[in-house]
Amino acid sequence: MLMIIFAWLSIFFTIFLAPKKHLWALITGQGFFLAFFSMAWFFLQDFNFSNSLFFIDKISGPLAILTCWLFPLTMLASQSKVYLEPINRQRAYIANSTFLQLTTLLAFTTSDLMLFFIFFEASLVPTMIIITRWGAQERRLEAGMYLAFYTMLGAIPLLIWFNKFYATHGSLLPILTHTLYITQTPTNYPGLFWVTFNAAFLIKLPMYCLHLWLPKAHVEAPIAGSMVLAGTLLKLGGYGILRTSPMLQEDTLNQTLLVMLVAILGILATALLCLRLTDLKSLIAMSSVSHMNLVVAAALISTPWSYSGAMMMMIAHGLTSSALFCLANTSYERTNSRTMILLRGTLMIFPLAGAWWLTVMLLNMALPPTINFAGEVLIMASLFNWSPIAFLIVALNLIFTTAYTLYVLWSTQRGPLPSHIKTLFPYQIREHLLLLLHILPGLLLIIKPEMIFF
Ligand SMILES: *[C@@H]1O[C@H](CO)[C@@H](O)[C@H](O)[C@H]1NC(C)=O
Repeated sequence: MLMIIFAWLSIFFTIFLAPKKHLWALITGQGFFLAFFSMAWFFLQDFNFSNSLFFIDKISGPLAILTCWLFPLTMLASQSKVYLEPINRQRAYIANSTFLQLTTLLAFTTSDLMLFFIFFEASLVPTMIIITRWGAQERRLEAGMYLAFYTMLGAIPLLIWFNKFYATHGSLLPILTHTLYITQTPTNYPGLFWVTFNAAFLIKLPMYCLHLWLPKAHVEAPIAGSMVLAGTLLKLGGYGILRTSPMLQEDTLNQTLLVMLVAILGILATALLCLRLTDLKSLIAMSSVSHMNLVVAAALISTPWSYSGAMMMMIAHGLTSSALFCLANTSYERTNSRTMILLRGTLMIFPLAGAWWLTVMLLNMALPPTINFAGEVLIMASLFNWSPIAFLIVALNLIFTTAYTLYVLWSTQRGPLPSHIKTLFPYQIREHLLLLLHILPGLLLIIKPEMIFF
């Protein structure tokens, strides 16, 4: 595993030594090579590896693979915009993205929860630099501010809890949680306890009510920022909840009923909100919030099935929402607008891109054979087991999701072609390849879902 980390570090040499002309080709090539190399290594370990520094199991393995896979794709996606900048800024951009990649990969694979905490927080720095330095509009500073303050707010209780846990049990290794006899200081408010110590993760996911930073960050971020944010950073929160759950008391579901209500409300409210949004990027961000609240609900139910559902949902959502941001970005680069109604009718001029839109939107809607659907079914089944009424309420989400999917497809693809978009430059092979490489893993996972079945 250390070998893989050093292999990823070697990208820094390429960044600073590569000649100007071949910089992006070299970085993308090396990124793909490293992604395949790391994935082969993860598969060889069969998701069962632990030493004093790294710990890979069924929860961290798939997420680490997702992180490795998305890095070359972000490089592929951001070429055309960043290529116009001076060479030093291009190098700084790639350096920051690589740094972000390293921190997230380390956060997913490290075996000590304190190191996890450090990398979890460290990933904030490159994200903020990428958003505030390479964002397209002037409100990016505000977005960075929101991101920083929301994240910091959750970090403090988590740090206190980790310290306390270490002081009483003498270890923060998740491998040992089965063997440690975990005693909890009795509190009068176990639900409040749960929320306070998972606040950092709930903000990162984000739970409804704590999600205000997300649409802002997505709208302002450049494409690599959006892809990594939707693809891996949100999953850090879900990973944190799943990873630390054995350390908390079991019987908290009744006490966390309020959180559950907020999550269920969040699933419905954000899906409904998507029907009224006109800004494509913030719509995709809102749909992420809706999906991630399903993960919160699954984590609260905390049965093996719901955990498997949460894992599947996170992997599936990582691929599809990243692909959606790529699609939104390809339209944005051509029309310089995120307003959906201005992108109308593009099916007429870009039929293949229309096919990508359809595929990705159907994946996002959780069409049956896909893993998005498998994840949703697992979560819904465990919800039904917990409370049929909650199941019925969440089932409404399926209707709303279908509705906003059709709304997006209709308002970006169909309709008469407005005269202002008749002179767009065509899709490049790079962009088709980018989308294919997002969709292909999603389709391949249908054949072998046990890979991410926790
Ligand atoms: C990130 O970008 C800034 C410039 O905006 C640069 O000064 C800094 O060195 C970069 N970070 C890394 C890790 O390369």
